[in-house]
Amino acid sequence: DTNTYILGIESSCDDTAAAVIHNGVVLANVVATQKIHEEYGGVVPELASRAHQKNIVPVVSQALRRANIDKNQLSAIAFTRGPGLMGSLLVGTSFSKSLAMGLDIPLIAVNHMQAHILAHFIKAEDQTAPNFPFLALTISGGHTQIVKVTSYFEMEVIGQTIDDAVGEAFDKSAKILGLPYPGGPLIDTYAQQGNPKAFRFTKPKVKPMDFSFSGLKTAVLYFVEKQVDLNPDFISENIEDVCASLQHTIVEYLMDKLKNAVKATGIKEIAIGGGVSANSGIRKALKDAEQKYGWKTHIPNFEYCTDNAAMIAIVGELKYKQGIFNTQEIAANARMKL
Ligand code: KG4
Ligand code: ZN
Repeated sequence: DTNTYILGIESSCDDTAAAVIHNGVVLANVVATQKIHEEYGGVVPELASRAHQKNIVPVVSQALRRANIDKNQLSAIAFTRGPGLMGSLLVGTSFSKSLAMGLDIPLIAVNHMQAHILAHFIKAEDQTAPNFPFLALTISGGHTQIVKVTSYFEMEVIGQTIDDAVGEAFDKSAKILGLPYPGGPLIDTYAQQGNPKAFRFTKPKVKPMDFSFSGLKTAVLYFVEKQVDLNPDFISENIEDVCASLQHTIVEYLMDKLKNAVKATGIKEIAIGGGVSANSGIRKALKDAEQKYGWKTHIPNFEYCTDNAAMIAIVGELKYKQGIFNTQEIAANARMKL
């Protein structure tokens, strides 16, 4: 049966999202981003769950409307089971279970991290599916991993952060510089006008394919405090150079780790995902690596990089085709592993 319509639902963190996919093509991709967390400088779990509760019905209704289909045409409901914030996951999980029960159609649990990787298999312009085996670098506010992907559902984490995620390094450094949350995109914007060699930040030393970012954030804090002591206007006068130097360090660090993973596995096909893949520095470094090291690189469209439900729906469709379903017994799992 190729005439399937899968509804995907994502609620693992602070975005409430719903999408409809049909034969690998996204018919609707709706995301309600929660603004409430901006004033707190980070995601407040209790507020996130409440906002999901408020948003989920309108977001799903809008996705069905935009896809121009009726709920009775749906073949299955795919939802994010984990990893993520428990209160947030519970909203999407309960909603999806109820809807699947009401419509009497299959329920499909999806791992959020697997979905970031399989988002590459969404059929879209400007997006090419990687060939197996490939290496996936997943970089976001919640995760930093290098995964060896052998087939759709066979993947192995070969490197990961031992503390903060790379997105946190961006966001926490941005906070130190007085920028609003999430600061990653702002650092990127300033970085493009600055000198990446103006200041030096040391790259934390851990195992060849692992990452550490908490030390970098502390280095930025001490550096900025020291400079502001000497010149109270240091930040406003040097924001571009500080951002450029910091971004340069982070991108170089990510690329070093990827190079180590290529060396260790012999795999030169690389796919990135997660919100930080929007970063102009990492995008350029990956494109350059095609020439420099003969890698083949894949960067998904921006809307499929950040948290979204289209990636949940594509995993739903891949599982649907293989008849991989879940029962109503399924529960959210905040610490779900790949
Ligand atoms: O995947 P995502 O939307 O949510 C999860 O964390 O799962 O990623 C959000 C993260 C935030 O830390 C944000 O600052 C970062 O991605 N981000 C960026 C850029 N755009 C988003 N970081 C650096 N440069 C960007 N252009
Ligand atoms: Zn994510």
